[in-house]
Amino acid sequence: MITPSGHALAAEISGAAGPLDLRDLGARDFEAIHAAWLDHLVLLFRGQQLSDGDLIRFSRRFGELDWAPVQETGRRFVEGHPEIYVVSNVIENGVPIGSLGAGEAVWHTDMSYLEIPPKASMLYALETPPAGGDTYFCNMYEACERLPGELRSRISGLGLKHDGTYNSGGYLRHGMPAIDDPLTSAGVYHPLLTKHPESGRTALYLGRRRNAYVGGLPLAESEALLDELWQYATAEQLTWSHNWRPRDLVLWDNRCTMHRRDAFDPVCRRILHRTQVKGETRPSA
Ligand code: SIN
Repeated sequence: MITPSGHALAAEISGAAGPLDLRDLGARDFEAIHAAWLDHLVLLFRGQQLSDGDLIRFSRRFGELDWAPVQETGRRFVEGHPEIYVVSNVIENGVPIGSLGAGEAVWHTDMSYLEIPPKASMLYALETPPAGGDTYFCNMYEACERLPGELRSRISGLGLKHDGTYNSGGYLRHGMPAIDDPLTSAGVYHPLLTKHPESGRTALYLGRRRNAYVGGLPLAESEALLDELWQYATAEQLTWSHNWRPRDLVLWDNRCTMHRRDAFDPVCRRILHRTQVKGETRPSA
């Protein structure tokens, strides 16, 4: 059953009489999930019972997986499963078991600093705090559609530098020099307006704000243009938020959404495991 959230994106998927077991999906059920994912951009599945192996197996039905980004400390997390990114504030033996801590994670699209960023990501909740740590998603097709015609024409054909110096928790990525100059920081250019390779729809593609730079413009002009675009992209009417329960799985399309996360009480434990499905093509206009 597909239950749309009633917001600008997202739907919950369940079985006829309770949760749909993602460990045991026939080809037709998977096709229906794939179609719902393209239609609703973000899907929520409650009540899952997934081991790391199950999570990887379900993720691989969407395509080959990317390895997880390296944790801020340089560690890659789950022994034997380099595909799994651990998002957690838990510290064991003085070492964080995952990334992003307990602070806010700012709006971003996963790994857009790669030439071919992942097309999908999914997060599976193992432990969640009683309050806070909600994750928000926004609809970048609608962001594009809401741009005034003149602004849309102005950015058509422009490229944006996507920088991977810092992660969304504000932590310096392992091995990266701490550069805060959008003109000189390392990064990969993608068009500001991209055509989704499966739906054919056009989305605004922003990645993340820090160190972003619109190629060819004076820095002040690039900053002003990006501030204006971000206002459209993160308008509340374009978002849906999720309050996590253990055993929730949320799957999203990185080509037409961004996400962020609220801070939560650092004393509470929050552990989620994430996979990311490789994109097939470079983002293109
Ligand atoms: C992420 O950006 O993948 C993590 C989001 C979250 O912690 O909810």
